[in-house]
Amino acid sequence: MRKFLTTTALSLAMLAGAAQAAENVEVLHWWTSGGEAAALDVLKKDLESKGITWTDMPVAGGGGTEAMTVLRARVTAGNAPTAVQMLGFDILDWAKEGALGNLDEVAGKEGWDKVIPGALQKFSKYDGHWIAAPVNVHSTNWMWINKAALDKAGGKEPANWDELIALLDNFKAQGITPIAHGGQPWQDATIFDAVVLSLGNDFYKKAFIDLDSATLGSDKMKEAFDRMTKLRSYVDDNFSGRDWNLASGMVIEGKAGLQFMGDWAKGEFLKAKKEPGKDFVCMRFPGTQGSVTFNSDQFAMFKVAADKVPAQLAMASAIESPTFQSAFNVVKGSVPARTDVPDTAFDACGKKAIKDLAEANKNDTLMGSMAHGHANPAAVKNAIYDVVTREFNGELTSEAAVKELVTAVEAAK
Ligand code: BGC
Repeated sequence: MRKFLTTTALSLAMLAGAAQAAENVEVLHWWTSGGEAAALDVLKKDLESKGITWTDMPVAGGGGTEAMTVLRARVTAGNAPTAVQMLGFDILDWAKEGALGNLDEVAGKEGWDKVIPGALQKFSKYDGHWIAAPVNVHSTNWMWINKAALDKAGGKEPANWDELIALLDNFKAQGITPIAHGGQPWQDATIFDAVVLSLGNDFYKKAFIDLDSATLGSDKMKEAFDRMTKLRSYVDDNFSGRDWNLASGMVIEGKAGLQFMGDWAKGEFLKAKKEPGKDFVCMRFPGTQGSVTFNSDQFAMFKVAADKVPAQLAMASAIESPTFQSAFNVVKGSVPARTDVPDTAFDACGKKAIKDLAEANKNDTLMGSMAHGHANPAAVKNAIYDVVTREFNGELTSEAAVKELVTAVEAAK
């Protein structure tokens, strides 16, 4: 009897061990700032409550450039993580390589087709099959202003380019850094998204979505670069290489007037216990109201051993739950990836983001972000980054940048 009990206890323990091993996800991501980590914690805790353990694989570097390099090495070594935070065209590139798993079982059962917008499905499905679980929708044409500094400047939100420049001059006169910026290619490109969009929806679409040479080489594109040069004159001397969240910190602390950044910046303000409307102001980059350049973080699910698939599917299902979508995105600064999540729990900026997204979708003014991998595959994106950064740092004149842009994009296509 005793022996029987011991054997039973042993096999039960072994079974539990096996179940635990199966109920684990290894997740590669670049959510390492304070606000991002807080949002990630919502996901970790949600999975833990479902008995799924989390092996963390963080790779610092905003926009995910470094994370994608590490991922390539892992997959080449035959050791793909279970799930990987990924943007737009990168997901499709991995799908083309046949590296991704299949989420159809969960997606079908839960009716994802009906609640996840087509603009996201374009990147979550390949060849008709679900390969990734979208977590959110961010957008890049935002501006985050220190409220006290804005009040000192008269309190009016700038409605166009000239008013923006007047505000930046006012910040300078106040003795603060007008623009909090980090000189990294993806951050320069994030500003370029907004600057190009501020010169017209059609212009943005023809340049970045259609990659039309005449538009890339136009006088208007020269104007976009001229605007970048002008903005460059308002950053501080130490901007080079600074991480984006440290730039957000400058606005939070009142050392800088504003930051041009996607709405993940809001996560930093919230983490610092700052309130929209009271401590900071969120608004669309002047001249881009009504348009949205979006990017969506998705968890691309890699082909993994059969015993790891249940945890992978459970993770995908947890991510798409409406309750999780609300809880996570409230903290992250983004908008739910489903259209049926109420905006009740969101602050004023979040409610605006949800409304803007729905309207842009309806009015055909919703476009993929060039800077964040939703307009073109990585090769083209990186070619554009290179020209934008060189121009921003004064290595190219606007005229030269326009010419380089045309040839670089042509070569990368
Ligand atoms: C991602 C955000 C992230 C930001 C900065 C963007 O590409 O979509 O989730 O917070 O990069 O790291």
